[in-house]
Amino acid sequence: MEEVARLWVVTGLVDDLEAATVEATRAFLADPYVFLVGIDNGVVAATIYGSIDAGRGMLRRLAVLPDHRKRGIGAALVRALEHRLAERGADRFRLHVFEANEGGAAFWKAMGYDRIPARYMGKFGPVP
Ligand SMILES: CC(C)(COP(=O)(O)OP(=O)(O)OC[C@H]1O[C@@H](n2cnc3c(N)ncnc32)[C@H](O)[C@@H]1OP(=O)(O)O)[C@@H](O)C(=O)NCCC(=O)NCCS
Repeated sequence: MEEVARLWVVTGLVDDLEAATVEATRAFLADPYVFLVGIDNGVVAATIYGSIDAGRGMLRRLAVLPDHRKRGIGAALVRALEHRLAERGADRFRLHVFEANEGGAAFWKAMGYDRIPARYMGKFGPVP
């Protein structure tokens, strides 16, 4: 799992390796069928995982190592995960892309995803 977490750090999805390792471990143990890892020449080159809630599939942490990009690996992982979530009853799919991530947004557009008009809000720090 640390290799997966390192991939998330290298690709800029997260900063904290330890927190990422905890997240990856939790997600894998919760539902390994929807936790996909792409191995290329023995290297953990790509990952994505998903979850499902009331028919809505959530796709998380798609990452492909820079040297392995533009070869269809990201698209293959997304399609495989969509099928697995659909088997579990998902009939719509969502994900978050940061505003500044133009390449990520272009990838999702190519995968048939459209922007949903919504505010993505967050809060950091202790609960008052
Ligand atoms: C986004 C990312 C997962 C794409 O992975 P990939 O394996 O290179 O993608 P694919 O080769 O399967 O690309 C499929 C299609 O998406 C589009 N696409 C992919 N990357 C793109 C980019 N940077 N800019 C524009 N379009 C892009 C292309 O249309 C491509 O098809 P084509 O190569 O036939 O033209 C990868 O660049 C990555 O890991 N980025 C950093 C992490 C990230 O942004 N993750 C998504 C956050 S939600």
